[in-house]
Amino acid sequence: MTVNIILLGPPGAGKGTQARRLVEERGLVQLSTGDMLREARSSGTEMGKVVAEVMDKGQLVTDEIVVGLIREKLEGSDAKGFIFDGFPRTLAQADALGALLGGLGQQVDGVIEMQVDDAALVRRITGRFTCGNCGEVYHDETKPTAKDGVCDVCGSTDLRRRADDNEESLKTRLLEYYKKTSPLIGYYYAKGNLHPVNGLAEVEAVAADMGRVLDGLTVD
Ligand code: AP5
Repeated sequence: MTVNIILLGPPGAGKGTQARRLVEERGLVQLSTGDMLREARSSGTEMGKVVAEVMDKGQLVTDEIVVGLIREKLEGSDAKGFIFDGFPRTLAQADALGALLGGLGQQVDGVIEMQVDDAALVRRITGRFTCGNCGEVYHDETKPTAKDGVCDVCGSTDLRRRADDNEESLKTRLLEYYKKTSPLIGYYYAKGNLHPVNGLAEVEAVAADMGRVLDGLTVD
């Protein structure tokens, strides 16, 4: 039995934060297209250079590239389920995901829509930093490290801010979200898959809400 969950929400909604918890608590595999693309850009390949330019502007990378990355991860995997974090982001990506999972005899079992208003998103994004070693996500005000400059989880001092976490790129990222990604809310609602969650609540409360959604899913 597999379970495939999509975390859908604007930049800063808390998708990555909650996905990491679900990996630990439910043994699912996190597939973050943002992380995959950041890996591609640091590889220095031609594709990586194109990706870096698009990401820094806050625009979406082409469907062809991201669907290719997801296909590679799904093919040959024996995971008991996936959390799709930041994918799909367009209707074409949603259709491609349905087809890829269908080819494996699987499906999208639930879509959690994380609802957060724009003012909170700006506060979250502009204060975010992450550990370059283990990926733990922090925030200057709401989740600082216990010891200045040192990751609480792994002790690394490689704490980073993302190149696209500035107000200018964020403006474009939000526009891209409302224009190209928010139509997925109706797409999955029509399929009976959509589960809205109040993403403005405390991290623990959001996690509890998401847990209730996952426990209530009917999975083949
Ligand atoms: P991606 O890396 O996916 O970024 P994003 O969607 O913009 O989302 P973020 O990672 O910024 O936010 P999040 O929702 O994960 O929030 P987090 O948990 O970190 O994509 C980056 C770029 O890659 C895109 O712009 C695009 O160019 C490209 N790309 C990626 N996927 C693509 C695709 N499928 N197609 C095309 N292009 C693609 O939390 C944020 C902050 O808030 C943290 O500091 C955290 O501590 C804090 N926080 C979290 N939850 C709470 C809470 N409940 N209360 C208070 N604070 C909280």
